[in-house]
Amino acid sequence: DQLVIAIDGPSGSGKSSVSKAVARELGAAYLDTGAMYRAITYSVLADGTDLSDANAIAQAVRDAQLEISVDPDAELVEIGGVDVTAAIREPRISEQVSTVATNLDARAELVRRQQEIIKANLRIVAEGRDITTVVAPDADARILLTASEEARLRRRGLQLGGTQNDSQLANQVLARDAKDSTVVNFTQAADGVMTVDSSDLDFEQTIAAVLDAIST
Ligand code: CDP
Repeated sequence: DQLVIAIDGPSGSGKSSVSKAVARELGAAYLDTGAMYRAITYSVLADGTDLSDANAIAQAVRDAQLEISVDPDAELVEIGGVDVTAAIREPRISEQVSTVATNLDARAELVRRQQEIIKANLRIVAEGRDITTVVAPDADARILLTASEEARLRRRGLQLGGTQNDSQLANQVLARDAKDSTVVNFTQAADGVMTVDSSDLDFEQTIAAVLDAIST
């Protein structure tokens, strides 16, 4: 039988590192769906696609030759044969990624590809913003990983009202979440989705809480 674990959460909830650790623990594959949105963003920026042209962005997603590793111990993202694993983490990508994420045709195509990847793996932990609700609503376990705003910014090494750079970056993270949540609701658990609040948990405790939620 296939085992699918769906984990959603906002920026700084610890989603990626926790999901990866949970995948290792379960001997499962790991899918970082955010990396797919980031890779498309990298590609449209590199190609000079007009970001205000929704159709052009949707077409770019349909045309994209996107490869993503599902090995939790070997991160690799390639688009058009180019290794963009490191480049997709750059701030310029984080700043623009919501343009792709709020494009409904782009989402439909990425959701389709994510479902294909999930189907191809016997055991998989998939992580993002809409996995519990859209990509894998029938997953064996569905978890929303939340954390207070303060905890989320702290994990990003940021503080509102800190240095000017700090609060500027902090505002960017919150603005991205606000923009993302206009198309997907990851701030409230949908029916049947378990919430794990990591505000007062350290990394190991969060992993334990998620594994606990999976086994119940
Ligand atoms: O940096 P952070 O962990 O917050 O985000 P990420 O998981 O790398 O995802 C980057 C961006 O991709 C998010 O801000 C969303 O705009 C988008 N995303 C999405 O819309 N749906 C998903 N399932 C995953 C990511």
